[in-house]
Amino acid sequence: MSSTSLPGGTWTLGDLTVTRFGYGAMQLAGPGVMGPPADPDGALAVLREAVALGVTHIDTSDAYGPHVTNGLIRAALHPYPEALHIVTKVGATRDPQGGWPPARQPAELRRAVHENLTNLGLDVLDLVNLRLGDAQGPRPGSLAEAFGTLAALRREGLIRHLGVSNATAEQVVEAQQIAPVVCVQNLYNLAYRQDDALIDELAGQGVAYVPFFPLGGFSPLQSAALSAVATRLDATPMSVALAWLLHRSPNVLLIPGTSSVAHLRENVVGAGLALSAEDLAELDKIGR
Ligand SMILES: NC(=O)c1ccc[n+]([C@@H]2O[C@H](COP(=O)([O-])OP(=O)(O)OC[C@H]3O[C@@H](n4cnc5c(N)ncnc54)[C@H](OP(=O)(O)O)[C@@H]3O)[C@@H](O)[C@H]2O)c1
Repeated sequence: MSSTSLPGGTWTLGDLTVTRFGYGAMQLAGPGVMGPPADPDGALAVLREAVALGVTHIDTSDAYGPHVTNGLIRAALHPYPEALHIVTKVGATRDPQGGWPPARQPAELRRAVHENLTNLGLDVLDLVNLRLGDAQGPRPGSLAEAFGTLAALRREGLIRHLGVSNATAEQVVEAQQIAPVVCVQNLYNLAYRQDDALIDELAGQGVAYVPFFPLGGFSPLQSAALSAVATRLDATPMSVALAWLLHRSPNVLLIPGTSSVAHLRENVVGAGLALSAEDLAELDKIGR
């Protein structure tokens, strides 16, 4: 296992070692995650800084832009350092209004995997998450046909590892009956804790849980209790929220998003904040 100075150390996804402190690239596209960024050079700088800081896990999707974020990752970082692992997701596309309609038919998933390979400049994708549900959250229903398609693409050698995203606990179990699942990427943060039981279950199985919107996403986390702890520790609420996630369980991996080099650096330092038992108990009450 490789060592890292980043907070949280490392985790192994299948056979891929990644830093628990990763980077989510969605915020690099234009407003509403549509089109190019206002400052393309700034976006490239954020990606290069993430790698310079030692991050070896970047989360992306060809739906960001669409096709914008993957192009930025390739422009900034290709040829990729050996230690870097890019995790992408398929299962949703974009409409002209900026919506995220599902695209989970076998032909759509095959096309999306090939587009990710081309746009990222790769022969094999390290990890592909099947995005389920819709913009409102997970929805019950069988994933067998869609996940089976990704399992076939994995057998064909185009994908190393699989995960699911925006999934119910039942869908995680169904996916595991089809192929190994190395991570689950769902909405979770200090204030939104629907998946507490799932995180503990996955920790017991050695499966990673990757919270999206770790900082609240498009509406930053706000809570009087969070602000009180942050003030006491002379830290920002964002730092406390990230540090809390690293404390939450060893299988939690961070992919906070930012379009700012300064925020990225702040987040790396912030995630390493030490939290006492008293701080944790106070923070624990926020989302319960
Ligand atoms: N599977 C899915 O369905 C799904 C859905 C959504 C997201 N994701 C993934 O999850 C990743 C993380 O989600 P996210 O980026 O949407 O939300 P997030 O990480 O919860 O929050 C990002 C927001 O926080 C701000 N921010 C970050 N660091 C900050 C700091 N130190 N101080 C002040 N503001 C700060 C960013 O603004 P600045 O740019 O100004 O820093 C941005 O607006 C995405 O990049 C994407 O890869 C997956």
